Amino acid sequence: MRIFVEKDYDAMSRRMAQVIAAEIVHNPACVLGLATGSTPEGAYKYLVDWYKQGCLSFKDVLSVNLDEYVGLAPTHDQSYRYFMQSNLFNHVDIIPENTRVPDGLTKDPKTFCAEYDAYIHSLGYVDLQLLGIGRNGHIGFNEPGDSFVKETHVVDLAESTIDANARFFATRDDVPKQAISMGIGAIMGAKKVLLAASGEEKAGAILNSICGTITPHCPGSILQLHPNVVVVVDEAAGSRLKSAGVSICG
Ligand code: F6R
Repeated sequence: MRIFVEKDYDAMSRRMAQVIAAEIVHNPACVLGLATGSTPEGAYKYLVDWYKQGCLSFKDVLSVNLDEYVGLAPTHDQSYRYFMQSNLFNHVDIIPENTRVPDGLTKDPKTFCAEYDAYIHSLGYVDLQLLGIGRNGHIGFNEPGDSFVKETHVVDLAESTIDANARFFATRDDVPKQAISMGIGAIMGAKKVLLAASGEEKAGAILNSICGTITPHCPGSILQLHPNVVVVVDEAAGSRLKSAGVSICG
């Protein structure tokens, strides 16, 4: 694992964007595994800027998103499809057909999930998987539990995840209770993983993921078994790493 601790959210975002841009420059037809939420928002802004400056093109890039809320239409302003369109896809030259986000309205989740995995498999897995992390250690929406779920699946969101995501909805009751999430198999199949976090409330999840016991009770801890992980955090999210003796790149 290479770990970068950046001064603040903006520096973290810039570093994340650099890792993603390097992947695209190195392999213009790469497959990006994308995430939503507050963590990657700033990085997407940098990527859009660099695209507008002519430094980067997404025209041959394929993307596969980690997750989507069950029951939200792509046009719902809190759906993850909507997030991706408004934060990245609408502003760069990615081909719409080359972007995938799980279908939160599918009538047949079981078949949908199997087909999502088959698609990822057919691509040879993703080249770079972006991950935020929940305060409870979730990656994608793989919530803490007694076992790791390998396949794309429907998840009951943890109460703490519903609490955390209530900030985006009018009331807590409006937060969907389920999501479709890529499983640990597709995440661990990625050739490279970029794990990012910002803010003090993520410090425990980051510490446990990087050097805690590998356990499904902290899903991010499985990343210790991945051979190619880059971690980018701000000082607040990385605040417990130095005293734990973790070596930092920058
Ligand atoms: C989002 C996702 C989630 C988030 C996590 C952190 O696609 O898969 O795992 O990355 O909940 O969310 P933020 O970044 O909003 O703190």
